Amino acid sequence: MRIAAFNGSPKGRSSATYLLVEAFLEGASGKNAEVVHHVLSEKDISHCKGCFGCWLRTPGRCVIKDDMRELTKELITADLAVLAFPLYVDDVPGLMKDFLDRLIPLLDPHFERDPQGESRHVRRYESYPRLVIISNCGFPERSHFQVVSHHFRRIARNMHTDVLEEIYLCGGGMLTMPSPLAAPFKNRYLRAMKRAGREMCEKGVLTERTRKALKRPLIPERLYFEGVNRGFDSILSHSK
Ligand SMILES: Cc1cc2nc3c(=O)[nH]c(=O)nc-3n(C[C@H](O)[C@H](O)[C@H](O)COP(=O)(O)O)c2cc1C
Repeated sequence: MRIAAFNGSPKGRSSATYLLVEAFLEGASGKNAEVVHHVLSEKDISHCKGCFGCWLRTPGRCVIKDDMRELTKELITADLAVLAFPLYVDDVPGLMKDFLDRLIPLLDPHFERDPQGESRHVRRYESYPRLVIISNCGFPERSHFQVVSHHFRRIARNMHTDVLEEIYLCGGGMLTMPSPLAAPFKNRYLRAMKRAGREMCEKGVLTERTRKALKRPLIPERLYFEGVNRGFDSILSHSK
């Protein structure tokens, strides 16, 4: 099994997203899986120009010469694509959106009806990777992921595939806190991520135990809410 992860955090290797993806891939590697972690912030990815050259002039190939040529190939040859990003303004950061927009050469422009009777583009490839979505956000409630959850289900439908798992972590910034006080809950969560990677490879699905562990907040919601406000007060009082 080939697993390709695409990390859309603008913070690259210093992001919570990076830690989450690394743990997932560590769990998956060695279980007959070949894994690769693409840090999109280190790549040259232009905005889609909207020229439809990839459909009409050079079918299947974008006219822009940048790292998306390699990344598109990496995605389409994977069995599982991990799409990972922090929540920005209730959705994906612009970096991830640029990456997603640039995937349209993977489809043929013709219209067809999907099994629900809705229009979509015809497949260009025999198979498309199944998706695992990993995200983290600043607020403490899981409801903040409503938009991305819907967004990626729509993307999967249009891309002739499905979303195998969605892993959402609230208050994810705590993963990158240097304080030793953060170590126990950080390690607990990353262990569950590692288990998720292993289970995904071995069973193609997560156990309920792992799903539950990944849904558990790092610390109780009220403590986090109050702690964040105290942290902001402290930082802002020094910046005056
Ligand atoms: C521009 C911007 C927009 C954000 N929007 C949201 C948001 O809508 N909801 C939320 O809960 N967190 C939001 N956040 C917080 C990030 O999701 C949070 O800091 C996250 O832990 C960053 O993850 P990373 O370290 O993987 O990049 C936003 C952060 C930035 C910089």
